[in-house]
Amino acid sequence: MEKVLEAKNIYFGYDKNYILEDANLDIYKGDFLGIVGPNGSAKSTLIKIMLGILKPQKGSIKMLDSPIEKFNNWGKLGYISQKVRDFNSSFPATVEEVVGANLYNNMGFFKFLKKEHKSRIKEVLDIVNMSQYQNHLVGNLSGGQQQRVFIARTLISNPEVIFMDEPLVGVDVNSQEQFYGLMEKLNKELGITLVMVSHDIGVITNRANRVACVGNKKIFVHSSKDFNEQEYIKEVYGENSSLLHHRH
Ligand SMILES: Nc1ncnc2c1ncn2[C@@H]1O[C@H](COP(=O)(O)OP(=O)(O)OP(=O)(O)O)[C@@H](O)[C@H]1O
Ligand SMILES: [Mg+2]
Repeated sequence: MEKVLEAKNIYFGYDKNYILEDANLDIYKGDFLGIVGPNGSAKSTLIKIMLGILKPQKGSIKMLDSPIEKFNNWGKLGYISQKVRDFNSSFPATVEEVVGANLYNNMGFFKFLKKEHKSRIKEVLDIVNMSQYQNHLVGNLSGGQQQRVFIARTLISNPEVIFMDEPLVGVDVNSQEQFYGLMEKLNKELGITLVMVSHDIGVITNRANRVACVGNKKIFVHSSKDFNEQEYIKEVYGENSSLLHHRH
């Protein structure tokens, strides 16, 4: 199987204490990989390391066959950070402007969009089912709709891999359902590899094909078919985890 990412022997700390220690992870083309783990276990940190935003003290990351330090094909990667919602609510831009933002590179942000840009924007908005909102202000959309606009924005450059950090926070059950339908379309029809941090272990193990559990400074990878919640609790909280989960 073709690897899109290989993280090997990663050691990382924001200070002298490592929060990842000899952590390893392989991601294969076509995977829908769920990343789970307790708060503060380094899930967001891991995503930033994989994308080269943070540099590990030891270990190596290979992204699409290139060491991450040399990687420059950023259009092949999409990233929706945990903080994306902080940006959009007050930002006075239309859906079209936000989705097209990656096309403005050589034009200056609010300059005029060419016809072929418009048609690409329309295409990606169609994929996420948001084309009727093209001229709406992003700040006026619901959380679930904004989420789809941000997915559309990453689709503009035809990415091979999309990284999402807790995209479903604040999204209701119906919109979650719709979101996972969209993920399935991206994964199965467009062949995009998906990497998604989630706190909803029950749901993500149903939707993803593999699950990476981050905890105890390590990464444990399971096929979602044989994911076992008891084993997960031991892995990420340690052998004595029954203390945390005792019955009353
Ligand atoms: N920029 C930073 N500087 C220093 N420490 C940080 C920084 N970012 C995160 N940390 C710390 O590193 C640890 C891992 O943080 P991280 O955000 O990766 O966790 P997480 O698994 O994504 O948690 P959550 O589920 O709450 O999003 C936490 O203890 C956090 O306080
Ligand atoms: Mg996080």
